Amino acid sequence: MKDIHIQAIRVHAYGGSDQLKLEEIPAPVPGPGEVLIDIVASGVNPVDWKIREGMMQRPLPYIPGVEASGVVVALGEGVTDKKVGQAVYGAVDGSYTACAVAPSAQLFPKPFHLSFEEAAACGGAKTAWGALFDVGKLTKGQRVFIHAGAGGVGHFAVQLAFHAGAYVIATASGENLEFVKSLGASEVIDYKTTPFETETDQVDVLLDTVGGDTLDRSYQLVKPGGILVCLVQPPSPEKATAAGIRAEWGGTKTLHAMQEVAKLLDKDLIRPSIRKVFAPLSKAAAAQDYSQLGGPGRGKVVLKIEE
Ligand SMILES: NC(=O)c1ccc[n+]([C@@H]2O[C@H](COP(=O)([O-])OP(=O)(O)OC[C@H]3O[C@@H](n4cnc5c(N)ncnc54)[C@H](OP(=O)(O)O)[C@@H]3O)[C@@H](O)[C@H]2O)c1
Repeated sequence: MKDIHIQAIRVHAYGGSDQLKLEEIPAPVPGPGEVLIDIVASGVNPVDWKIREGMMQRPLPYIPGVEASGVVVALGEGVTDKKVGQAVYGAVDGSYTACAVAPSAQLFPKPFHLSFEEAAACGGAKTAWGALFDVGKLTKGQRVFIHAGAGGVGHFAVQLAFHAGAYVIATASGENLEFVKSLGASEVIDYKTTPFETETDQVDVLLDTVGGDTLDRSYQLVKPGGILVCLVQPPSPEKATAAGIRAEWGGTKTLHAMQEVAKLLDKDLIRPSIRKVFAPLSKAAAAQDYSQLGGPGRGKVVLKIEE
Protein backbone atom coordinates (compact mmCIF):
# COMPACT_ATOMS: atom_id res chain seq x y z
CA MET A 1 0.00 0.00 0.00
CA LYS A 2 2.99 2.31 0.55
CA ASP A 3 3.09 3.52 -3.06
CA ILE A 4 -0.62 4.17 -3.18
CA HIS A 5 -1.73 7.71 -2.44
CA ILE A 6 -5.18 8.71 -1.28
CA GLN A 7 -7.09 11.94 -0.78
CA ALA A 8 -7.46 13.28 2.75
CA ILE A 9 -8.34 16.55 4.46
CA ARG A 10 -5.52 17.76 6.70
CA VAL A 11 -5.15 20.65 9.15
CA HIS A 12 -1.66 22.14 9.48
CA ALA A 13 -2.58 25.14 11.70
CA TYR A 14 -5.51 25.86 14.03
CA GLY A 15 -8.03 28.37 12.72
CA GLY A 16 -11.07 28.77 10.46
CA SER A 17 -12.48 26.27 8.00
CA ASP A 18 -10.00 27.54 5.38
CA GLN A 19 -7.43 25.48 7.30
CA LEU A 20 -9.03 22.28 5.94
CA LYS A 21 -6.74 21.35 3.05
CA LEU A 22 -7.44 18.59 0.51
CA GLU A 23 -4.16 16.71 0.02
CA GLU A 24 -2.70 13.50 -1.38
CA ILE A 25 -1.11 11.34 1.32
CA PRO A 26 0.29 7.79 1.40
CA ALA A 27 -2.38 5.21 2.16
CA PRO A 28 -2.17 4.05 5.78
CA VAL A 29 -1.28 0.47 6.66
CA PRO A 30 -3.25 -1.40 9.35
CA GLY A 31 -1.24 -2.41 12.41
CA PRO A 32 -2.00 -5.32 14.74
CA GLY A 33 -5.67 -5.36 15.70
CA GLU A 34 -6.53 -2.73 13.08
CA VAL A 35 -8.40 -2.81 9.79
CA LEU A 36 -8.04 -0.64 6.71
CA ILE A 37 -11.34 0.83 5.52
CA ASP A 38 -12.40 2.48 2.28
CA ILE A 39 -14.39 5.32 3.82
CA VAL A 40 -17.80 5.94 2.25
CA ALA A 41 -19.04 8.63 4.65
CA SER A 42 -17.80 10.48 7.72
CA GLY A 43 -19.88 11.98 10.51
CA VAL A 44 -19.33 15.72 11.04
CA ASN A 45 -19.54 16.69 14.70
CA PRO A 46 -19.16 19.94 16.69
CA VAL A 47 -15.96 18.48 18.16
CA ASP A 48 -14.45 18.58 14.63
CA TRP A 49 -14.58 22.40 14.36
CA LYS A 50 -13.74 22.81 18.06
CA ILE A 51 -10.48 20.89 17.52
CA ARG A 52 -9.82 22.82 14.26
CA GLU A 53 -10.15 26.12 16.16
CA GLY A 54 -7.65 24.88 18.76
CA MET A 55 -10.14 24.52 21.65
CA MET A 56 -8.75 20.99 21.95
CA GLN A 57 -5.30 20.11 20.70
CA ARG A 58 -4.08 17.42 18.31
CA PRO A 59 -0.52 16.97 17.00
CA LEU A 60 -0.31 18.86 13.68
CA PRO A 61 -0.92 18.05 10.92
CA TYR A 62 -3.96 15.92 11.62
CA ILE A 63 -6.90 14.48 9.66
CA PRO A 64 -10.23 15.62 11.20
CA GLY A 65 -13.21 13.41 11.97
CA VAL A 66 -14.01 10.86 14.65
CA GLU A 67 -16.52 8.47 13.05
CA ALA A 68 -17.19 6.86 9.69
CA SER A 69 -18.74 4.07 7.67
CA GLY A 70 -17.08 2.16 4.90
CA VAL A 71 -15.86 -1.17 3.55
CA VAL A 72 -13.00 -3.24 4.99
CA VAL A 73 -10.18 -3.60 2.43
CA ALA A 74 -7.35 -5.10 4.52
CA LEU A 75 -6.89 -6.75 7.90
CA GLY A 76 -4.04 -6.10 10.34
CA GLU A 77 -2.28 -8.90 12.18
CA GLY A 78 -4.52 -10.82 14.56
CA VAL A 79 -7.86 -9.51 13.28
CA THR A 80 -10.33 -12.38 13.09
CA ASP A 81 -13.67 -10.64 13.69
CA LYS A 82 -13.83 -8.77 10.35
CA LYS A 83 -13.68 -9.80 6.70
CA VAL A 84 -12.41 -8.00 3.63
CA GLY A 85 -15.45 -6.63 1.80
CA GLN A 86 -17.50 -6.23 4.98
CA ALA A 87 -19.47 -2.99 5.45
CA VAL A 88 -18.74 -1.45 8.86
CA TYR A 89 -19.23 1.73 10.89
CA GLY A 90 -17.91 3.14 14.14
CA ALA A 91 -15.15 5.22 15.73
CA VAL A 92 -12.45 6.20 13.23
CA ASP A 93 -9.91 8.77 14.34
CA GLY A 94 -9.15 10.86 11.25
CA SER A 95 -12.20 10.01 9.13
CA TYR A 96 -12.19 12.88 6.55
CA THR A 97 -10.29 10.71 4.08
CA ALA A 98 -10.74 8.12 1.35
CA CYS A 99 -9.03 5.43 3.40
CA ALA A 100 -8.30 5.07 7.14
CA VAL A 101 -7.17 2.54 9.70
CA ALA A 102 -9.08 1.92 12.94
CA PRO A 103 -9.02 -0.65 15.74
CA SER A 104 -11.27 -3.52 14.65
CA ALA A 105 -12.92 -3.61 18.11
CA GLN A 106 -14.33 -0.10 17.54
CA LEU A 107 -16.04 -1.09 14.30
CA PHE A 108 -19.41 -2.83 13.96
CA PRO A 109 -21.09 -4.57 11.01
CA LYS A 110 -23.32 -2.04 9.24
CA PRO A 111 -26.99 -3.02 9.58
CA PHE A 112 -28.54 -3.63 6.14
CA HIS A 113 -31.39 -1.24 6.84
CA LEU A 114 -29.03 1.72 7.39
CA SER A 115 -27.40 3.61 4.52
CA PHE A 116 -23.67 4.35 4.73
CA GLU A 117 -24.57 8.00 5.44
CA GLU A 118 -26.79 6.97 8.36
CA ALA A 119 -24.25 4.50 9.72
CA ALA A 120 -21.55 7.21 9.69
CA ALA A 121 -23.69 9.30 12.02
CA CYS A 122 -24.18 7.05 15.04
CA GLY A 123 -21.42 8.34 17.36
CA GLY A 124 -23.87 10.69 19.07
CA ALA A 125 -25.77 7.62 20.26
CA LYS A 126 -22.68 6.36 22.08
CA THR A 127 -22.27 9.77 23.76
CA ALA A 128 -25.95 9.86 24.70
CA TRP A 129 -25.86 6.31 26.07
CA GLY A 130 -22.80 7.08 28.22
CA ALA A 131 -24.33 10.28 29.59
CA LEU A 132 -27.77 8.79 30.34
CA PHE A 133 -26.82 5.36 31.66
CA ASP A 134 -23.11 5.24 32.63
CA VAL A 135 -23.16 8.67 34.31
CA GLY A 136 -26.86 9.46 34.83
CA LYS A 137 -27.82 5.90 35.93
CA LEU A 138 -31.21 6.47 34.27
CA THR A 139 -33.71 3.68 34.97
CA LYS A 140 -37.20 2.69 33.86
CA GLY A 141 -39.94 4.97 35.15
CA GLN A 142 -37.65 7.91 35.93
CA ARG A 143 -38.22 11.38 34.52
CA VAL A 144 -35.48 12.66 32.21
CA PHE A 145 -35.09 16.12 30.65
CA ILE A 146 -33.08 16.38 27.41
CA HIS A 147 -32.01 19.74 26.00
CA ALA A 148 -31.78 20.04 22.20
CA GLY A 149 -33.82 16.91 21.53
CA ALA A 150 -33.40 17.34 17.76
CA GLY A 151 -29.59 17.68 17.91
CA GLY A 152 -26.95 15.16 16.87
CA VAL A 153 -26.70 13.83 20.44
CA GLY A 154 -30.20 14.82 21.61
CA HIS A 155 -32.19 12.91 18.98
CA PHE A 156 -30.43 9.71 20.04
CA ALA A 157 -30.81 10.56 23.75
CA VAL A 158 -34.59 10.91 23.37
CA GLN A 159 -34.84 7.52 21.61
CA LEU A 160 -32.55 5.75 24.10
CA ALA A 161 -34.36 7.15 27.15
CA PHE A 162 -37.76 6.28 25.68
CA HIS A 163 -36.60 2.77 24.84
CA ALA A 164 -35.36 2.35 28.44
CA GLY A 165 -38.86 3.16 29.72
CA ALA A 166 -38.15 6.64 31.06
CA TYR A 167 -40.62 9.53 30.88
CA VAL A 168 -38.97 11.93 28.42
CA ILE A 169 -39.23 15.72 28.35
CA ALA A 170 -37.15 17.55 25.73
CA THR A 171 -36.60 20.98 24.23
CA ALA A 172 -36.63 21.85 20.52
CA SER A 173 -37.97 24.62 18.31
CA GLY A 174 -40.22 25.10 15.28
CA GLU A 175 -40.68 22.07 13.04
CA ASN A 176 -38.53 19.96 15.34
CA LEU A 177 -41.19 19.88 18.07
CA GLU A 178 -43.23 17.18 16.29
CA PHE A 179 -40.06 15.34 15.23
CA VAL A 180 -38.85 15.07 18.84
CA LYS A 181 -42.30 13.87 19.93
CA SER A 182 -42.13 11.17 17.24
CA LEU A 183 -38.85 9.93 18.78
CA GLY A 184 -40.57 9.20 22.10
CA ALA A 185 -40.71 12.45 24.10
CA SER A 186 -43.94 12.82 26.08
CA GLU A 187 -43.45 16.57 26.51
CA VAL A 188 -41.58 18.85 24.08
CA ILE A 189 -40.97 22.46 25.10
CA ASP A 190 -40.22 25.18 22.56
CA TYR A 191 -37.13 26.75 24.15
CA LYS A 192 -37.46 29.82 21.90
CA THR A 193 -40.92 30.77 23.15
CA THR A 194 -41.25 29.18 26.60
CA PRO A 195 -39.13 29.27 29.78
CA PHE A 196 -38.40 25.54 30.00
CA GLU A 197 -37.51 25.65 33.72
CA THR A 198 -41.06 26.50 34.80
CA GLU A 199 -42.90 24.46 32.18
CA THR A 200 -42.58 20.98 33.71
CA ASP A 201 -42.03 19.19 37.05
CA GLN A 202 -38.59 18.30 38.36
CA VAL A 203 -36.72 15.33 36.87
CA ASP A 204 -34.35 12.60 38.06
CA VAL A 205 -31.81 13.09 35.26
CA LEU A 206 -31.13 16.14 33.05
CA LEU A 207 -28.92 15.99 29.95
CA ASP A 208 -27.65 19.38 28.75
CA THR A 209 -26.02 19.60 25.30
CA VAL A 210 -26.33 23.40 25.10
CA GLY A 211 -24.53 24.96 28.11
CA GLY A 212 -24.31 28.68 29.03
CA ASP A 213 -27.59 30.26 30.13
CA THR A 214 -29.40 26.94 29.46
CA LEU A 215 -27.14 25.20 31.98
CA ASP A 216 -27.58 28.01 34.52
CA ARG A 217 -31.37 27.66 34.38
CA SER A 218 -31.28 23.84 34.56
CA TYR A 219 -30.10 23.13 38.14
CA GLN A 220 -33.54 23.96 39.55
CA LEU A 221 -35.20 21.43 37.25
CA VAL A 222 -33.44 18.46 38.88
CA LYS A 223 -34.97 16.81 41.97
CA PRO A 224 -32.80 16.87 45.12
CA GLY A 225 -30.63 13.74 44.88
CA GLY A 226 -30.90 13.73 41.08
CA ILE A 227 -28.17 14.28 38.49
CA LEU A 228 -27.40 16.86 35.82
CA VAL A 229 -25.00 15.81 33.03
CA CYS A 230 -23.61 18.60 30.82
CA LEU A 231 -21.67 17.72 27.66
CA VAL A 232 -20.51 21.25 26.84
CA GLN A 233 -18.84 22.72 29.95
CA PRO A 234 -18.15 21.85 33.58
CA PRO A 235 -21.24 22.53 35.70
CA SER A 236 -20.89 24.71 38.83
CA PRO A 237 -20.23 22.59 41.96
CA GLU A 238 -21.65 25.46 44.09
CA LYS A 239 -24.93 25.59 42.17
CA ALA A 240 -25.18 21.78 42.28
CA THR A 241 -24.64 21.73 46.05
CA ALA A 242 -27.18 24.52 46.56
CA ALA A 243 -29.74 22.50 44.57
CA GLY A 244 -28.85 19.27 46.41
CA ILE A 245 -27.97 17.49 43.16
CA ARG A 246 -24.95 15.84 41.52
CA ALA A 247 -23.63 17.59 38.40
CA GLU A 248 -21.11 16.05 35.99
CA TRP A 249 -19.30 17.26 32.89
CA GLY A 250 -19.26 14.96 29.88
CA GLY A 251 -20.46 11.50 29.29
CA THR A 252 -18.36 8.39 28.87
CA LYS A 253 -17.56 6.88 25.51
CA THR A 254 -16.79 3.32 26.43
CA LEU A 255 -16.73 0.37 24.09
CA HIS A 256 -19.56 -1.05 26.22
CA ALA A 257 -21.70 2.02 25.40
CA MET A 258 -21.15 1.50 21.66
CA GLN A 259 -21.88 -2.23 21.98
CA GLU A 260 -25.21 -1.45 23.65
CA VAL A 261 -26.02 1.13 20.97
CA ALA A 262 -25.06 -1.28 18.16
CA LYS A 263 -27.58 -3.85 19.48
CA LEU A 264 -30.36 -1.25 19.37
CA LEU A 265 -29.34 -0.05 15.90
CA ASP A 266 -29.28 -3.67 14.64
CA LYS A 267 -32.85 -4.20 15.84
CA ASP A 268 -33.96 -0.84 14.38
CA LEU A 269 -35.06 0.30 17.86
CA ILE A 270 -33.15 3.56 17.44
CA ARG A 271 -32.38 5.33 14.16
CA PRO A 272 -30.05 8.13 13.13
CA SER A 273 -31.55 11.17 11.46
CA ILE A 274 -29.50 12.99 8.84
CA ARG A 275 -29.57 16.79 8.85
CA LYS A 276 -27.59 17.35 5.65
CA VAL A 277 -25.11 15.41 3.49
CA PHE A 278 -22.15 17.22 1.93
CA ALA A 279 -20.18 15.60 -0.95
CA PRO A 280 -17.47 15.03 -2.06
CA LEU A 281 -14.56 15.21 0.42
CA SER A 282 -13.56 18.68 -0.86
CA LYS A 283 -16.78 20.05 0.74
CA ALA A 284 -15.37 19.45 4.25
CA ALA A 285 -15.17 23.18 5.02
CA ALA A 286 -18.81 23.75 4.03
CA ALA A 287 -19.84 20.79 6.19
CA GLN A 288 -17.99 22.09 9.27
CA ASP A 289 -19.33 25.63 8.72
CA TYR A 290 -22.85 24.21 8.54
CA SER A 291 -22.31 22.22 11.76
CA GLN A 292 -20.89 25.29 13.51
CA LEU A 293 -23.19 28.03 12.26
CA GLY A 294 -26.36 25.98 12.10
CA GLY A 295 -28.96 25.60 9.44
CA PRO A 296 -32.46 24.21 9.10
CA GLY A 297 -32.86 20.50 9.80
CA ARG A 298 -32.36 17.94 12.48
CA GLY A 299 -29.94 15.18 13.47
CA LYS A 300 -26.46 14.78 12.09
CA VAL A 301 -24.30 16.39 9.42
CA VAL A 302 -22.48 13.91 7.14
CA LEU A 303 -19.57 14.26 4.71
CA LYS A 304 -19.74 11.75 1.84
CA ILE A 305 -16.29 11.06 0.44
CA GLU A 306 -17.43 10.73 -3.19
CA GLU A 307 -20.44 12.30 -4.94
N1 LIG B 1 -18.38 16.00 26.07
C1 LIG B 1 -18.71 15.07 25.18
O1 LIG B 1 -18.43 13.89 25.35
C2 LIG B 1 -19.50 15.47 23.97
C3 LIG B 1 -19.83 14.52 22.99
C4 LIG B 1 -20.63 14.91 21.92
C5 LIG B 1 -21.06 16.22 21.83
N2 LIG B 1 -20.67 17.13 22.76
C6 LIG B 1 -21.10 18.53 22.66
O2 LIG B 1 -22.52 18.59 22.80
C7 LIG B 1 -23.00 19.70 22.05
C8 LIG B 1 -24.15 19.27 21.17
O3 LIG B 1 -23.68 18.40 20.15
P1 LIG B 1 -24.67 17.98 18.98
O4 LIG B 1 -23.91 17.16 18.01
O5 LIG B 1 -25.94 17.43 19.53
O6 LIG B 1 -24.95 19.45 18.36
P2 LIG B 1 -25.91 19.90 17.19
O7 LIG B 1 -26.53 18.75 16.51
O8 LIG B 1 -25.14 20.87 16.37
O9 LIG B 1 -27.06 20.70 17.97
C9 LIG B 1 -27.99 21.37 17.21
C10 LIG B 1 -29.31 21.44 17.97
O10 LIG B 1 -29.20 22.32 19.08
C11 LIG B 1 -30.49 22.83 19.34
N3 LIG B 1 -30.37 24.05 20.13
C12 LIG B 1 -29.65 25.16 19.84
N4 LIG B 1 -29.79 26.08 20.83
C13 LIG B 1 -30.59 25.51 21.77
C14 LIG B 1 -31.12 25.94 23.01
N5 LIG B 1 -30.82 27.15 23.52
N6 LIG B 1 -31.91 25.10 23.71
C15 LIG B 1 -32.22 23.88 23.23
N7 LIG B 1 -31.77 23.42 22.04
C16 LIG B 1 -30.96 24.22 21.32
C17 LIG B 1 -31.12 23.03 17.98
O11 LIG B 1 -32.49 22.74 18.14
P3 LIG B 1 -33.66 23.28 17.16
O12 LIG B 1 -33.15 23.08 15.74
O13 LIG B 1 -34.82 22.40 17.49
O14 LIG B 1 -33.88 24.73 17.49
C18 LIG B 1 -30.41 21.96 17.11
O15 LIG B 1 -31.27 20.88 16.82
C19 LIG B 1 -21.80 20.28 21.28
O16 LIG B 1 -21.29 21.40 21.97
C20 LIG B 1 -20.81 19.14 21.30
O17 LIG B 1 -19.47 19.57 21.18
C21 LIG B 1 -19.91 16.79 23.81
